[in-house]
Parts: sequence; C-alpha cells; structure tokens
Amino acid sequence: MISDLWYKNAIIYCLSVGTYMDANGDGIGDFRGLARRLDYLHGLGITAIWLMPFQTSPHRDDGYDVSDYYSVDPRYGTLGDFVDFTHGAKQRGIRVLIDLVVNHTSDQHPWFKEARRDPDSKYRDWYVWSKKKPRHANTGMVFPGVQKTTWSYDDQARAFYFHRFYDFQPDLNTSHPEVQAEILKIMGFWIQLGVSGFRMDAVPFVIGTKGAKVRKPKEQYDMLRYFREFLQWRQGDCIVLAEANVLPETDMEYFGDDGDRMQMMFNFQVNQHLFYALATADTRPLIKAMKATKPRPATAQWGQFLRNHDELDLGRLTEEQRQRVFQAFGPEESMQLYKRGIRRRLVPMLGGDRRRIELAYSLLFTLPGTPVIRYGDELGMGDDLSREERDCARTPMQWSDEPHGGFTKHDKPVCPVIRAGPYGFEHVNAAIQRRYPDSLLNWTERIIRMRKEVPEIGWGDFAVIPLRNPAILVMRYDWRNNSVLLIHNLDAEPHEISFAAGTGGEHGDVLVNLLGTEHSRAGHDGKHHLVIEGYGYRWYRVGGLDYLLRRTDIG
Ligand code: NOJ
Ligand code: CA
Repeated sequence: MISDLWYKNAIIYCLSVGTYMDANGDGIGDFRGLARRLDYLHGLGITAIWLMPFQTSPHRDDGYDVSDYYSVDPRYGTLGDFVDFTHGAKQRGIRVLIDLVVNHTSDQHPWFKEARRDPDSKYRDWYVWSKKKPRHANTGMVFPGVQKTTWSYDDQARAFYFHRFYDFQPDLNTSHPEVQAEILKIMGFWIQLGVSGFRMDAVPFVIGTKGAKVRKPKEQYDMLRYFREFLQWRQGDCIVLAEANVLPETDMEYFGDDGDRMQMMFNFQVNQHLFYALATADTRPLIKAMKATKPRPATAQWGQFLRNHDELDLGRLTEEQRQRVFQAFGPEESMQLYKRGIRRRLVPMLGGDRRRIELAYSLLFTLPGTPVIRYGDELGMGDDLSREERDCARTPMQWSDEPHGGFTKHDKPVCPVIRAGPYGFEHVNAAIQRRYPDSLLNWTERIIRMRKEVPEIGWGDFAVIPLRNPAILVMRYDWRNNSVLLIHNLDAEPHEISFAAGTGGEHGDVLVNLLGTEHSRAGHDGKHHLVIEGYGYRWYRVGGLDYLLRRTDIG
C-alpha cells in the first residue's frame, strides 16, 4: 500500500556525531558513543536520524569539505563502528540518512590535488577552471561578508577555480559524466553500509551549469531523476532529502511532475514565513507560503523544520519583514550572519519562554510534511555566540550535570559544552529533564507519540479555515474518512474565535481534544466558539475517538 512510504510520516532527528557523545575519551564525539545513545533516541520516539558529514575531512566547514567519500574520519571511529551504529539503529526501527556533499570537495581531496598538479590528469576536468579571472568572479557568494569571491587563483594549476562556497571547497564539475558516475558510486557504497538515503547538500548548485562563461546557471533537472533511479534500483526505500532553498515556482521541477525526482525537500519557504509569523503574530504570509508550496506529487514530502545547523536564512522575506524578525529574534549584530540570517538556537530566540517554545514545536509537528528536529532542541539547549559564524549552535549535547555535561571524560573537549548561565549544562540536560514529567524533554516525547498517531498530517490534504483574526491559524487535514483540526494562537494575548469545522453534516460538531480534557461541541449555529490563551495550541480530532473504526483503506 502506498501509505507505507516511510518518509511521508517520519520524525527525523538531525545530529552530528562529533558533538553527540565521546566514548573513547579523546574529546570528540564518535560512533561508539552515538550507538550507546540509540536507546535514548528510540525512547524519544524519532524514526530517522539525519547524520551530518562524518567522512574524512580537514574540517574547515564542519565536515562539509570532504577529502575521502569512502571513509569515516578517524576522529569519529572506523567503518566498523559506523556499521555497528547503522545496525543498532535498524534493530530499533530507526533509519539513517546521511549528508551527501558532492557539489564540491575539500581542496585536500586527492582528486583536486591531482587536478591542480597535472593539467593532463583525468581529474582536471572534474573541477571547473578558467585561465583568466571571470568578469563576474565577485558575485554569487553563499557566505557574503566572509567569502570574497567565487573564483580563486591556484598557483600550482596556474588557473582560477570555481567555488560556490569557501575557497577551500572547489566545485566539482557535476555535469561531467564521470563525476556523475562517481556520485552514484558514493551513494551505492553507503547504501550497502545500512543507510536509507541522503540529505543532498546544495542541490540547486549541484545541478546548475558551471563555468567561466556561465552568468546565470541553468538547472539540469534531469540529473535528479538519474540519481533517484539509481537509488531505487539499489534499494527501494532509499530517498533523497534535498537541501534546495528555491522559490515555490520551481518546486515541481525538483519533485518531478510524475514524482520521479526528489522524494523530499526542506520547506525553506514555510520556514522563513513561520519565523515571521512567530515574530509578528501575523499568520497571513505563512498561510500564503503554505498554499504556494501545497502542490506536490502524492509520493513526495516536505521536510518541515524550525532551526538547523546553519543560520536561519531570511533571504526570501521582504526587507521590512526581515527587519521585523531581526528585531524580535536577533536584534544584535553578533546574532546575525551573512546579512540575511540569525545564527542563534531556537530557545534563546524565543527568550526561553516555554509557552512560545511549545507553540513553535506544535506548529512544526503539524505543518504539512515530516518534521525534522535538531539535537538538543528537545532539551531547549542554547547557543554560544562567542564561537564563529554558525558554530555557535553546534555545541555538544548536554546529557547530565556531570563534568562537560556528560558528553566526554576528556578535560578539554574540542568544542566546549555550554556551561553556566541559563542554558548551561548544569541546568539544561537530559538527566534532570527525564525526572520531571513536565520537562521539555518529556513534553517532546509525548508530542512525538501523538504526532505518530495522526498520520492525517503527513498523508492528508490540508485546508486553512479562514478566520478574520490573523493571529490565529486553524488548519484541517482530511484523510481516509478522518479529519483533524489544529489551532495555533501566535499572539501573546488570548483570543476568542468562532469557526465551523467544515467537514459537512453533523460530524464536525464534536472536536475531541488530543492533548487535554477540554473538548468542543458546536453551538446551535453549527460553529465552535473557543477562547485560545496567549501562545495556545490545540490538536483536535473531528468526530469521536472511533476514528480508527471509521478509517477507510483507500482515498
Ligand atoms: C549547506 C550546509 O548546510 C552548510 O552547512 C555548508 O556550509 C554548505 N552547504 C556547503 O557545503
Ligand atoms: Ca571520541
């Protein structure tokens, strides 16, 4: 049955092995440590892990500069440790997605070293060169303010090479058939070691044309189908989750009209407008973004997220909208990055306000798609703004109030654990939170459990129920003769609202509260009249709790 596609209703948890747990005591997290925490993850209820880059790398961009695609960086362990980990995950029903960073390599990759050394090497053409500095060399940087150019001179090669990102990340010539074949080989290798797919880095750049004469890259969408076919052929449940911060107009190019390209994409459009809504209590632009990103093939899915390991990119908002979000969540310059984003973690952005944190998470878990959460957010971990660029939000997991938060036995972890202050490991850690039923950790566990019992969100069609009040978002999902209704008040003040469930007949007269005891019965006018407290949220089932008896097998 089509409703078995695992990624349509997964709970994805993103983590980096180097900051999760250090089993061998050298101050860096490793696969043996991570494997020991699988029971924690299983208990939290997540169903998939997205693992950030762990292959051999000089680590100048947190592993997004790979120097050997077919290895585990020795600092994290061995291929054997990796397989132990994927096996442990599989035993617990947890799938593993890994980052696939093939837009560029590290400048220390043997392919690049060979390419710059010998113009006749077959690897020369694997990269993108120009004898003269291209005229548009100072445009198109992804990290403005830090990165000066997209073309740098290489003394040894006596030519300029193209790099969309930092200068130590030379772009691969991804249009080259041999490079494409190598990408398939890399995917095939990791599939064999137990992964169920890839978070593909920088997809628009991977498929874009590259070269000294290319002013405006043209996307070669066919490449996406080529990748997908290979994956499906090797292993049917393998997927690609694309990192593509693109406009809604091109979404279907990425998914493919027949659902023959990417299975999943991150929904950057909704993400940015969601933060605008949280900042201003105006849900209208968010609703617009949800509607604009609604069309997708039945087998495709959005990855919804709040924060990730990068800055919160607000580049798609209008200047005025962006300034409103900056004011609310990142007013100081040290909190902003690349002139377009905020580099803080979620909880400090929300001022540590538990009501707002729950509201944000409740939205994440009920937006159309599959939620992707970031390690430590289940505890409300903070950031360390004294660290550079995006590293501020990449500190080690806080397990307990033991030295270094229980992350390592080493006296000096490579990346220090956040200590002291409101987000220090002394107060914010998993061990303390599991003792209190109302802790954020236990709340997250419960909401995940409930989310899994509401497959309508991942599978169903959504409708936004129109209200005159822009502070409140009411969504309904319909699937297989069942409906759920979700309400979020983005304002600090309580609001009174009235609406009809809109399901027709008498069915919509009863709304059963899934998270509390206050149910709602429609008035004589057929409408529900409710007061939603400031930052309040409600998850309702329409009709009664006999919904599983009512569910149909098709439709
Ligand atoms: C996107 C990744 O999320 C980011 O962390 C990285 O720096 C760039 N791609 C380059 O690989
Ligand atoms: Ca270690």
